[in-house]
Amino acid sequence: MDDLLHLARRMMLHAHAPYSKFHVGAALRGEDGSIHGGCNVENSAYPQGLCAEAGAIAALVAAGHKRVLECLVIGPGPEVITPCGGCRQKLREFASDDLPIHLCGPDGLHRTVTLGQLLPMSFGPHHLAKP
Ligand code: THU
Repeated sequence: MDDLLHLARRMMLHAHAPYSKFHVGAALRGEDGSIHGGCNVENSAYPQGLCAEAGAIAALVAAGHKRVLECLVIGPGPEVITPCGGCRQKLREFASDDLPIHLCGPDGLHRTVTLGQLLPMSFGPHHLAKP
């Protein structure tokens, strides 16, 4: 987990969050052990902003991967940060219910939950699988 935390911390430093001032970093582990990071990228047209998890997913897919085995998110405050609803669904595309998601703050790991806990009874790729 240390490699994910290190990368997510670095990503967080790159966040473009001039509006919320809420800097977030995310890191994912692919099925081959490779790690991929992202930060939130806000936009003056507010709805066009991107979450850190979305950036990390894009980096993982652009590197040629399709499975996420581990996820870590780091936020700036003492409050435990969790991926937003949209990011939970985005993660679901590339991970199963047992995906560990490490929720971190500046002081390190706060707690680890699974994607299934954050997104129960999720809609996923298997729903669209042709019989
Ligand atoms: N944000 C993330 O990047 N990931 C999350 O899981 C929650 C929220 C960002 C979006 C926005 O730039 C800022 O945090 C405040 O909502």
